[in-house]
Amino acid sequence: MSSHYIILGTSVLAVLLAGYLAQMYLPPPKPKVVGIDLGTTFSCVGMYHAVTGNVSVLTTQDGHKCIPSVVAILDDGILVGYDAVAQAEHNPSNTLYDAKRFIGKTFTKEEVDEAQKQYSFKIKADQFGMVSFSVVVNSTERLVSPEDVGSIIIGTLKQAVERNLSVPVNRAVLSVPAEFDEKQRNFTMKAGALAGLEILRVINEPTAAAMAYGLHTKSNIHNVLVVDLGGGTLDVSLLNVQGGMFLTQAMAGNNRLGGQDFNQRLLEYLLERIKEQFKKPLTDKEDLQVLRMKVEEAKLNLTYHDAASISLKLQSFGKASFKETITRVLFEKINSDLFLRVLEPIDRVLQATELTPEEVDEIVLVGGSTRIPRVISLVEEHMKRRPNTDVDPELAVVTGVSVQAGILGGMWPLTVSAVELPTRVKKIHIH
Ligand SMILES: *[C@@H]1O[C@H](CO)[C@@H](O)[C@H](O)[C@H]1NC(C)=O
Ligand SMILES: *[C@@H]1O[C@H](CO)[C@@H](O)[C@H](O)[C@H]1NC(C)=O
Ligand SMILES: *[C@@H]1O[C@H](CO)[C@@H](O)[C@H](O)[C@H]1NC(C)=O
Ligand SMILES: *[C@@H]1O[C@H](CO)[C@@H](O)[C@H](O)[C@H]1NC(C)=O
Ligand SMILES: *[C@@H]1O[C@H](CO)[C@@H](O)[C@H](O)[C@H]1NC(C)=O
Repeated sequence: MSSHYIILGTSVLAVLLAGYLAQMYLPPPKPKVVGIDLGTTFSCVGMYHAVTGNVSVLTTQDGHKCIPSVVAILDDGILVGYDAVAQAEHNPSNTLYDAKRFIGKTFTKEEVDEAQKQYSFKIKADQFGMVSFSVVVNSTERLVSPEDVGSIIIGTLKQAVERNLSVPVNRAVLSVPAEFDEKQRNFTMKAGALAGLEILRVINEPTAAAMAYGLHTKSNIHNVLVVDLGGGTLDVSLLNVQGGMFLTQAMAGNNRLGGQDFNQRLLEYLLERIKEQFKKPLTDKEDLQVLRMKVEEAKLNLTYHDAASISLKLQSFGKASFKETITRVLFEKINSDLFLRVLEPIDRVLQATELTPEEVDEIVLVGGSTRIPRVISLVEEHMKRRPNTDVDPELAVVTGVSVQAGILGGMWPLTVSAVELPTRVKKIHIH
């Protein structure tokens, strides 16, 4: 009898030993769940790697990590991301973007008319006020829903992962804006399902950004301020973290403030200089387009340099040369009032939560416009604390969603949990 037990004992030991050796010597398991940031303007996908604990954000198109959230529906097929942007000018009515602003939402007739003025594609609402985009393919009208657009973008990201891993991937975690209601979350999940993914969870973008910094694992961190300044919108959230549980305490934002506004100020300054120099205003569409691109380039340069020079040939002025040096000081001066407005929603969430700046333990920056040195220094002066800037602010959300995906996929060495509690707070809108 007893020899049976010995044999059994030995085989258990062998199994344990095999497991131990496998962990030591086998290649780390491939990620089973991926993290997706389906953004209004850009989207990206990442995965968490067991053993190293690193997150990699995948290169999706032509060396780019994030791809524009743009889809073009053509007679001979569908283009996504940079490919869709490249042909947008020639095909404005079939090039769809900003779909996230419409997903899972109902609109009144007036709201649809108002939105229609801003977009070059046709917007149609059904009897319930749910919106679709009307495109013409092969001379027939086709309705494309916001979740269809989302699924095409997610599908492109899924393909990028499968190319990278050489295995099918069918589970993901998605991020959504904290202010999304249940229906918007459901339709975002539907976009994932249409792309052939099982969506294990949706998490709020500010929570994801905080997780990118590992704030769910630190027991001494309680109040986290997340400032998200993108191309056209500013969102501020105050999160409370305790034992890996996140609760959104307050949200405030301005959906008319972002990088485009800073560009516009610089553009107006340059147009004034051109008018002075050539004694007439620049109105040519193509020259203006080139100038806009130079402005964006100069703005990006001013993040790292004290000055950027803009030079171009104005075709409509007989190929005259225009050259101007923009210093960072000048850029900050012409935008000073706009930069100060970043502090407004910060004050509103502090008021709503009755917290002083000293009671905020960490500040997390999200969105490309938070790279602007003056934005960082204003937040720092106001909050008396240096914001976290280690993670690329444009990749903070996808990094955090990928960590959440790693947790749900049971990837070693992630033993912590991170859970989000539903919140009842409403976003405060500032205009
Ligand atoms: C992955 O993590 C290791 C250790 O944490 C680090 O040394 C390495 O540079 C990371 N690799 C990448 C590609 O980020
Ligand atoms: C348009 O028609 C062509 C030729 O009949 C067909 O190959 C193509 O798939 C159609 N496009 C779409 C988007 O249905
Ligand atoms: C997969 O992605 C990682 C991170 O971007 C990259 O280092 C690696 O070379 C990629 N592998 C393949 C086969 O594309
Ligand atoms: C969202 O989806 C869940 C599960 O499918 C469903 O129970 C719930 O009623 C949906 N909510 C809304 C607002 O659509
Ligand atoms: C931006 O910087 C790059 C590299 O330093 C330079 O080649 C480019 O001309 C600069 N552009 C502007 C508009 O200053």
